[in-house]
Amino acid sequence: MNSPEDVRLRLDAVDYLVDDGLAMAVYLSLRMGKPLLLEGEPGVGKTAAAKALALALGTPFIRLQCYEGLTAGEALYEWNYQRQLLAIRLAEARQEKLADADLFTAEFLQDRPILKAVRHDGPQPPVLLIDEIDRADDEFEALLFEFLGEGAITVPELGTFTAARPPIVVLTSNRSRELHDALRRRCLYHWIEFPSPARAASIVRRAVPGAAEPLIRSATEFVGRVRALELDKAPGLAEAIDWVSALAALGVTDLAEDDVPRTIGTIAKTPDDRLAVAAALVAARQESR
Ligand SMILES: Nc1ncnc2c1ncn2[C@@H]1O[C@H](COP(=O)(O)OP(=O)(O)OP(=O)(O)O)[C@@H](O)[C@H]1O
Ligand SMILES: [Mg+2]
Repeated sequence: MNSPEDVRLRLDAVDYLVDDGLAMAVYLSLRMGKPLLLEGEPGVGKTAAAKALALALGTPFIRLQCYEGLTAGEALYEWNYQRQLLAIRLAEARQEKLADADLFTAEFLQDRPILKAVRHDGPQPPVLLIDEIDRADDEFEALLFEFLGEGAITVPELGTFTAARPPIVVLTSNRSRELHDALRRRCLYHWIEFPSPARAASIVRRAVPGAAEPLIRSATEFVGRVRALELDKAPGLAEAIDWVSALAALGVTDLAEDDVPRTIGTIAKTPDDRLAVAAALVAARQESR
C-alpha cells in the first residue's frame, strides 16, 4: 500500500470504509513499521479495521483477545510441561539424566499469539491484533514493551527472538482505563470517530446489500439521532447493521411499517434504552408521515 489513498481503495475493496484520518494512520503505521493504537467508542470498527487490513494485504491474521488476568503464558509463550515431563520419564527409563538445558529448548516452547507473530516465516508479515488491551491488567502492558518497541521477545532460557519481517500490529482500546504512557509512546495513535450519517449509510449498504435504499438512509439517520440521547448503551455500527438486516429480512422498506417497533431489540439493549428508543421511534414515525 503506497499512499493513504491506496490504503483507502484496498480497504474499500474488502468492504471496510475509512475516512482520511484512518487511511493516513494505517498508511503511516505500515510505512514506519510502528504499531497502531486505535481507540473509539464500541462498535466504530476498531476490530474490523485490523481484520480488513489482513484481508486487504492477503496476509495471515493473528488475534490476541485481552481480558482480566491474561498472562504471559497465554499471550507470549509457554513451556510445554507435559512434553517436558514425558521427556524426563523417557530419559529415566533409559537410565539417563536430563539437564535443564535439554528441557528448555525450542522443541518445548509453545507459541502464543505474540511469539507466533514474531516467528512467522511466510512471504509476508502477519497482521497481529491485540484487541481490547484495556481489559488486561495494567501490569500486562509492561510485557508488551519489548515487542512493541523492538519487534522482539526474549525468552530467558533461549535468547531473543526478533521478527525477520516485523508483524503489522494493531492494538485497540475502549478506554475503560488509562493506558501507560510507555505503551502509547511505542505506538501511532488514531481515535476512530463515529462516522457521518452519509458514511454510516455507506457502511450499512455494504454490510446489507439487499436492504432498500430509503430504509438504509432513514435507519442510519435514526441510529445517529438516538446516539445523541443519554442511553445506557448507545447503538454503534454493529447495531445499525443488525437492525437493517433484521428489517430487510422482514421485507420492511420503510420505518413507518408496522413491524418496525418490534425490531428495536437490535439497537436498544437495556430496559431503559428500550423505552427511550421506542419513544424516539414514535416521534420519528410521526415526523415522516
Ligand atoms: N468503517 C467501516 N467499514 C465497514 N464496516 C464497518 C466499519 N466500521 C465498523 N464496521 C462494522 O461495524 C461492526 C462493528 O465493528 P467492530 O466490531 O470492529 O467495532 P469495535 O470498535 O471493535 O467495537 P467494540 O469496541 O465493541 O469491540 C462490524 O460488523 C464491522 O464490520
Ligand atoms: Mg472490537
